[in-house]
Amino acid sequence: MSSAAAIVIVTPQYNWGYPAPLKNALDHLYQKWTGKPLVIVTYGGHGGNKCAAQLRQVAAGLHMRPVATMPGIKRTK
Ligand SMILES: Cc1cc2nc3c(=O)[nH]c(=O)nc-3n(C[C@H](O)[C@H](O)[C@H](O)COP(=O)(O)O)c2cc1C
Repeated sequence: MSSAAAIVIVTPQYNWGYPAPLKNALDHLYQKWTGKPLVIVTYGGHGGNKCAAQLRQVAAGLHMRPVATMPGIKRTK
């Protein structure tokens, strides 16, 4: 993580949130995320915009630099 120029997180949405293992990883590597540009990509039955918003807030707390565009992919089957 330290050597990465930027981070792309691709996550499903479950009940308006992102999965707990992802939060665990974010918390565990707390200092590694500082200053990294972040692209948040979500997917789900409705695209995952709710978990994208939550993740963006947490990323701010981790001093990351989330980009404005947050693609949400709607699963069709
Ligand atoms: C328990 C559960 C809750 C879900 N909640 C949402 C939701 O809030 N919004 C959404 O868009 N999709 C929701 N989905 C659909 C999943 O995001 C979708 O099926 C996704 O493809 C699951 O990713 P996975 O196959 O990698 O586990 C939910 C699915 C499950 C099983």
